[in-house]
Amino acid sequence: MFAQVERLPADPILGLIEAFNRDTNPNKIDLGVGVYKDAQGNTPIMRAVKEAESLLLAQETTKSYIGSHGDPLFAQHLLPLVLGADSPALQENRASLTQAPGGTGALRLAADFIKRTADNKKVWISNPTWPNHYAIFKAAGVEYASYGYVDTQSNELDFPAMLADLQQIPEGDVVLLHACCHNPTGFDLNQEQWQQVVQVLQERQLLPLVDFAYQGFGEGLEEDAWAVRLLAKQLPEVMITASCSKNFGLYRERTGAFIALARNQEDMEKVRSQLAVVARSNYSNPPAHGSSIVATILGSQELKPLWEEEVTEMRQRINTLRNDFVQALQPYGLADKFACVAQQQGMFSYSGLKPEEVAQLQKEFGIYMVSTGRMNIAGYNQQNLGYLCEAIASVCKAS
Ligand SMILES: Cc1ncc(COP(=O)(O)O)c(C=O)c1O
Repeated sequence: MFAQVERLPADPILGLIEAFNRDTNPNKIDLGVGVYKDAQGNTPIMRAVKEAESLLLAQETTKSYIGSHGDPLFAQHLLPLVLGADSPALQENRASLTQAPGGTGALRLAADFIKRTADNKKVWISNPTWPNHYAIFKAAGVEYASYGYVDTQSNELDFPAMLADLQQIPEGDVVLLHACCHNPTGFDLNQEQWQQVVQVLQERQLLPLVDFAYQGFGEGLEEDAWAVRLLAKQLPEVMITASCSKNFGLYRERTGAFIALARNQEDMEKVRSQLAVVARSNYSNPPAHGSSIVATILGSQELKPLWEEEVTEMRQRINTLRNDFVQALQPYGLADKFACVAQQQGMFSYSGLKPEEVAQLQKEFGIYMVSTGRMNIAGYNQQNLGYLCEAIASVCKAS
């Protein structure tokens, strides 16, 4: 049977990683990778996580299953982090959390749930988006389509195009929105734009699915939840997928959640019953180590402030790197061209570099990024910033 199996092309990011590893240029820089890196180029285990792990090692008494919805303590702490401690949905007992293997697992739960309960609905996704969004909905057999998001000529958020597209979506369909730190562009909506989006969602009775993978990486843990909480307050039904990969640095521990806000407790319980079946037929129970770490940190008066401080450090490092990048391009007369980099949010930036410039950066300077010009801001540091900007100036002049 295997002889007939079609060989599929590797993920372009994997190809980029392999090419980077093979490159012998001592000055090479990896801006393609999708993880946070510190000033030394490492993706460290956070101090709060290490401390929570040592507590767990001493205190854990079982490795038994945690159930299809996951660890109740994880839900108890993650829900207020996402929705706010004073969330009406929490007080009214109409929010359900199902723990999932990462944000990806949560998105797959969402996709399977949509397929089971609303097979005729399409999911509308920003163009561009994190490429795995397409793969997840495709794998679940859910139809999807795109709405506009970026003006590729000017490399700016194209909010009028986004709004016009949302206004054309058939009533009742699902709209996938990035809560903050849009991946891959870094362009986020402002509060006024979010209000306008909510209005369209209300008018057309569209169901939002909010991908919340970078809480704390934009403006702050509370600030980044603003849009999620606005939607939760203004709309009767909302789906949210949360990831603890970036803000807890728990990438490989696969820790995330699917959250559903329903009109009332009865509807919430119906949705919850579906999610239990979806989870069971996928992987039965989610992994417990990451969720135990998150619950331990968020439930501890000592570890929570330490974790918040570490999230602030990561965010400030990224924001400093964004500003320093634009500053360092000033002597080359390129500060205006790349000014958007200092205004974008989160780890990723649509730099505006053209595919041929990206190719030249890779070939001549050992600087690797996705061909769309998406850079991981955390991929460079103060030591190689000068080299990076000199290289960018060189390819921009040549083209
Ligand atoms: C926009 C977006 N959503 C979801 C995820 C899922 O993250 P994970 O499955 O690692 O928690 C990512 C990860 O890069 C992402 O960028």
